[in-house]
Amino acid sequence: MKNILIIGATGQIGSELTMRLRKEYPGGNVVAGFIRGAEPKGELLESGPSHEVDITNPAQIAEAVDKYNVDTIYNLAALLSAVAEARPQLAWKIGVGGLYNTLEVAREKGCGVFTPSSIGSFGPDTPRDNTPQDTLQRPETIYGVTKVTGELLSDYYARRFGVDTRSVRFPGLISYVTPPGGGTTDYAVDIYYSAVKGEEFKCPLKPGTFMDMMYMPDALRAAIEIMEADPTRLKHRNSFNIASMSFDPEIIAAKIREYIPDFRMTYELDPLRQKIADSWPNSLDDSCARREWDWRPEYDLDAMTRDMIAHLRTKFGIAAPEVRKEALEPAF
Ligand code: SER
Repeated sequence: MKNILIIGATGQIGSELTMRLRKEYPGGNVVAGFIRGAEPKGELLESGPSHEVDITNPAQIAEAVDKYNVDTIYNLAALLSAVAEARPQLAWKIGVGGLYNTLEVAREKGCGVFTPSSIGSFGPDTPRDNTPQDTLQRPETIYGVTKVTGELLSDYYARRFGVDTRSVRFPGLISYVTPPGGGTTDYAVDIYYSAVKGEEFKCPLKPGTFMDMMYMPDALRAAIEIMEADPTRLKHRNSFNIASMSFDPEIIAAKIREYIPDFRMTYELDPLRQKIADSWPNSLDDSCARREWDWRPEYDLDAMTRDMIAHLRTKFGIAAPEVRKEALEPAF
């Protein structure tokens, strides 16, 4: 049986990961940790326990761990890259101070800890294509600085204190459930919302801006599988490159047009996001994750696009127009 605390359970990843973990471990406590003002609602609230856990308050983390006999903590509290640039002090306080609080509680109480890192942990000096697992990490954003610090601190706690810390470097995550807030990769979520609603999409990044992206079901599976991996096979811990697809705005727009032919996209560049995206890799090499814990993505751009459009149509009560014949025919 597992008892799990998710810190940041109402956020972009947490809201889905909490539900998935409750299905995965039905006999245990999967506790939705939330901050005031972002309380769980609906199914998230009703399907299991929740507890106020502000990651900047170590006593609250310890209280939730004690109350529910927690053995594993998913630390998902963070400010995303663009919003972190506006509030760097807070980004550090949550990303590094919060992680330190979590690791200290984990050390005292014997918990495992998952803390996501990101493609944002790389910088302009990093090899851009097929970015290796072990390479230069000199990010220029505060988000990236907190992620590299988090990777190092988590490895330190594993080596020095035996805390079972594990992590993956998430690409931009795409989902129809909880929208991201303030990231550089958010456009790849927003574009689907506009397309399904029949609105023109104003893309904040220029053509040719490639970044790694991933559909949320693959990301959730990665977060669960890395924590279940056989520790004797892990040569790395914090943090594994994982990948499933890489595209630029033109490629995703063309893919959407295969299913929504009249979708329109124009460009209205956001200089901050463009600068951040230009400093991140185009695509990651995830062969270490494949070797050490059998990581395999399931969704490519086409499968993700079909699923996103179908779910967003349901979400907004928009009927699917008659599907073009060729979209229904197998490609072989
Ligand atoms: N999705 C994040 C961001 O854009 C990167 O991990 O900030």
